[in-house]
Amino acid sequence: MSKKTLRVSKIRNGTVIDHIMRGHALDVIKILGINGRSGGVVTIAMNVPSEKLGLKDIVKVEGRELNPEEVDKIALLAPHATINIIRNYKVVEKQRVKLPHVIKGIVKCVNPTCISNSEEPIKSIFYVEKEEPLRLRCHYCGHIMEKEDILQQF
Ligand code: CTP
Ligand code: ZN
Repeated sequence: MSKKTLRVSKIRNGTVIDHIMRGHALDVIKILGINGRSGGVVTIAMNVPSEKLGLKDIVKVEGRELNPEEVDKIALLAPHATINIIRNYKVVEKQRVKLPHVIKGIVKCVNPTCISNSEEPIKSIFYVEKEEPLRLRCHYCGHIMEKEDILQQF
């Protein structure tokens, strides 16, 4: 980024999702349920030069602080992102997202006959077999889920 000017302006209140792997900003938008038809200002920056990542994406969501469940969802698709909570222009909280080895209850198994989809609700459990590209294996039926299966649920 140029030292003279900021490419995207600082925000007053909200969440900055930084260090998103290049090409994943739109996945993050989708997983947060942002469609531009409601809510506050959302800024998406793609292919921003970064010392650590080469090129990175950034998403700034004004007027909204992400909750832990939303942070967990982001970890699925942007496992190296940093979540910054901004209040009155200051970063009051900075959190590196982390993809756990076992994912419980965030996504549903796409296999309709999986026991986790039966009428008695059972919490879904997946094992992370691969981070990039994402590969999850259902604890109950062994079904393999990929990024597209997860994005379809949001
Ligand atoms: N940011 C913002 N508005 C603010 C404060 C910060 O949009 N009022 C953004 C910054 O542009 C940056 C991110 O939030 O993309 C994190 O800010 P900061 O911690 O100040 O930057 P760095 O120290 O570069 O962050 P890191 O160490 O995580 O790389
Ligand atoms: Zn299953």
